[in-house]
Amino acid sequence: MNRTHKNNELRLSNVNEVVELKGWVSKTRNLGGLIFIDLRDRYGITQIVVNPEQAIKELTETAEKIRNEYVIYVKGEVIERVSKNPNLPTGDIEVKVENLEIISTAETTPLIIADETDALEETRLKYRYLDLRRPKMQKNLIVRSNTTHIIRNFLNDLDFIEVETPILTKSSPEGARDYLVPSRVHQGEFYALPQSPQIFKQLCMISGLERYFQIARCFRDEDLRADRQPEFTQVDIETSFLTAEEIQTMTENLFVKVMKEIKGVDIKAPFDRLTYHEAMTRYGSDKPDRRFQMELVELNDVFKDTSFTVFQNTINSNGYIRAINVKKGKDKYSRKEIDRLTDYAKKYRAKGLAFLKFDKNEFAGPISKFLSENEVKALISKMNVENGDLLLFVADSFQVSCEALGALRKLIANEMNVINEKEYNFLWVVDWPLFEYDEEEQRYFAAHHPFTAPKNESLSYLKTDPSKCLAQAYDIVLNGYEIGGGSIRIHQFEVQNQMFKTLGFTQEEAYTQFGYLLDAFKYGAPPHGGIALGLDRIIMLLVNTENIRDVIAFPKTASASCLMSNAPSPVSDEQLKELNIKI
Ligand code: AMO
Ligand code: AMP
Repeated sequence: MNRTHKNNELRLSNVNEVVELKGWVSKTRNLGGLIFIDLRDRYGITQIVVNPEQAIKELTETAEKIRNEYVIYVKGEVIERVSKNPNLPTGDIEVKVENLEIISTAETTPLIIADETDALEETRLKYRYLDLRRPKMQKNLIVRSNTTHIIRNFLNDLDFIEVETPILTKSSPEGARDYLVPSRVHQGEFYALPQSPQIFKQLCMISGLERYFQIARCFRDEDLRADRQPEFTQVDIETSFLTAEEIQTMTENLFVKVMKEIKGVDIKAPFDRLTYHEAMTRYGSDKPDRRFQMELVELNDVFKDTSFTVFQNTINSNGYIRAINVKKGKDKYSRKEIDRLTDYAKKYRAKGLAFLKFDKNEFAGPISKFLSENEVKALISKMNVENGDLLLFVADSFQVSCEALGALRKLIANEMNVINEKEYNFLWVVDWPLFEYDEEEQRYFAAHHPFTAPKNESLSYLKTDPSKCLAQAYDIVLNGYEIGGGSIRIHQFEVQNQMFKTLGFTQEEAYTQFGYLLDAFKYGAPPHGGIALGLDRIIMLLVNTENIRDVIAFPKTASASCLMSNAPSPVSDEQLKELNIKI
């Protein structure tokens, strides 16, 4: 009872052959005279036909019993179809059944097994094995598998060694909360699941492996979003002796290959490089989407003598007035609509959203009365204003003025439909600040992670003014998504020690947490650096979905649970007792 063909294979050239097929029943139609069955497997669909007038009675009876999603075996002759289906690769033929067996029956499925589904995502996640039976989901997993293979081969060809690092490990600092695993043997002690293999890959360099990679599962207990999962996969890479530029070039070559082989698209390398500062001031984002314009413009000089108090106060308190020009936005955004945009900007901490509309060569709007003739002229020229345009202003701190307008820029581009969905816009963001200052805790945090090297010209600021330190760090961005990040690492004991000091660790704390890395630096550490690519996000973009769950076989919900297995779940008293844990 083997099969001779897959369900996408049979053509007119197979007519008269006797074939054997297996698969799931995707559709049955009993047209009185004839019974048609669409037989589906991973590869495609073949139409099966039973003719009760010609078939023996048992065969017809079996055919009449068959329901959707039964698994069946079919033997029969390939015949030319009378009414052909041009939408199916096998649409010219059908298989006239001689033998039919039901291998497995099926209850009515809670969701329809088809590309388009109106099932709630909850239902899809609860019955994930059925959701994954949908051809569209299978295609996503196939793209994922193919991409992973291309990446593996690419790195293998470049002499990279694939190394598996521990999952039961010590906390690795990527800035999220750790998932902890209690130890039974060492009661009261915990393993942490890795947020990334960062320290291990650096240790591999100290071991002399020179080129490491891993398709690595990472775990982060953080607030989830459409492009974030608590466990996700990185293509984790580390190299010795390469410069940041060399690592970036290699990464570009990898994407050129992936885009060509998966999408048939030629992308141009080298990718543009923007400094962090440029990305923030021009696009209001550290992962700018450059498939559309609408750049932010700083207007402090235009409004230096303004009579509008909000702007005046901002300038006096060393803040910034920035604006975007929404081309042809005047009619699209009514007063009420602008109120909605204002509420949106407030989510990004803006205190308000001032606006001007330009029509019949004049500005209109609540703040137009404050504009002097010079300001009008300067605005028009600086913001390239034409009739029909809408200007939106945020006056605030550097961060808020950039981020609020950056968020609006993205929202409005989507609403005005100005994004070319076919474009793949890659870029690097470089020259990141090494530290972020946390006002609440009144201390510096590593902007990337504490092993990132400062730029050479910033080294002296490490002790004196950390806020001025720039990092040898780089992010790779595709269409507004951060799809990877990396850096050149610190490889000297003294610099790493100073880094921990700046981050507020005592010598003892640094040793308790990272002593094994600090010690390793004492035994000959090569200069090294690397990158980690977010595989799930890359696949999302390759299959054009905005939902990371669509590219993960068994994902978690926004509250980090698995609706299928019901993880996380309580454990037995026995298990807790063994771990000496009381709930
Ligand atoms: P980073 O923390 O920037 O760097 O992570 C690298 C890339 O992983 C992806 N990513 C995620 N994808 C899905 N869900 C998440 N919760 C999630 N978090 C991160 C992003 C990101 O760019 N060890 C360093 C890398 C290095 O320095 O080499 C690291 O982990 O696409
Ligand atoms: P108000 O003087 O508070 O009535 O504000 C007048 C206009 O300026 C309103 O449209 C506000 O939304 C806007 N506005 C208030 N604060 C800011 C700000 N920080 N940046 C930009 N616009 C603002």
